[in-house]
Amino acid sequence: MTVAIIGTGKMGSGIAKLLAGKGEKVVIGARDPAKASALAAEIGGDAEGGGIEAAVKLADLVILAVWYQQFEETVRAAGDLSGKVLVDISNPITEDFKGLRIGHTTSAAEELQALAPKAKVVKAFNTIFAELLPAEAREGRDPVQVFVAADDEAAKTAVSDVVAKGGFQPVDSGPLSNARFLEPVGEINIWFGFFLGWGTSAAPAWIKG
Ligand SMILES: NC(=O)c1ccc[n+]([C@@H]2O[C@H](COP(=O)([O-])OP(=O)(O)OC[C@H]3O[C@@H](n4cnc5c(N)ncnc54)[C@H](OP(=O)(O)O)[C@@H]3O)[C@@H](O)[C@H]2O)c1
Repeated sequence: MTVAIIGTGKMGSGIAKLLAGKGEKVVIGARDPAKASALAAEIGGDAEGGGIEAAVKLADLVILAVWYQQFEETVRAAGDLSGKVLVDISNPITEDFKGLRIGHTTSAAEELQALAPKAKVVKAFNTIFAELLPAEAREGRDPVQVFVAADDEAAKTAVSDVVAKGGFQPVDSGPLSNARFLEPVGEINIWFGFFLGWGTSAAPAWIKG
């Protein structure tokens, strides 16, 4: 399966490198295609980079690695997202990183679904700091959980498979509307990591009784 990654920032480059390193075919898309091509060249192998729409066209699974505020513009640039699995990794945080812009009655994931109604939106990776994406950063510790929420079961399975391929433990977190609960978990993780001294190897772990 080809995975498109939109965004060449901390999360986009981290996920692209991780998945390519595990043998996944990755296509990177960016508003500046040269940035995506440069990242693909750095990754090597069969990684490709270019514009956003071109990357989306080549993939069935698209990981959106941009900020919540950029969703509208990025979805517009993505072209036809019909039938695509569209992964939302975002935390819709405020400028000071200390709160969420939206919540309770909606979530970034549901807002994305409204912007791209024909895509199958899946929430994942929002509780993982970019620093934990390289496999080496997780060596010797318990499996790091990635909470996966979606309404489409096949899309949830496809994303869970990608999560597992990256060496994380996918946790079925129910329907997409549960992103309303996962995004605050992402926010408290930011508090632990940035403001309460735990550092960016912090990650939530849910324990089964
Ligand atoms: N960093 C983390 O540890 C972390 C953890 C969990 C979740 N997240 C989530 O992951 C997402 C990305 O975070 P990040 O840390 O990777 O951010 P980042 O390093 O600032 O990268 C953001 C990326 O978005 C691109 N971008 C900005 N505006 C765009 C637009 N209008 N159209 C297309 N692309 C656009 C940027 O491209 P340019 O280079 O062209 O500006 C850049 O590649 C956010 O939603 C964040 O909440 C981050």
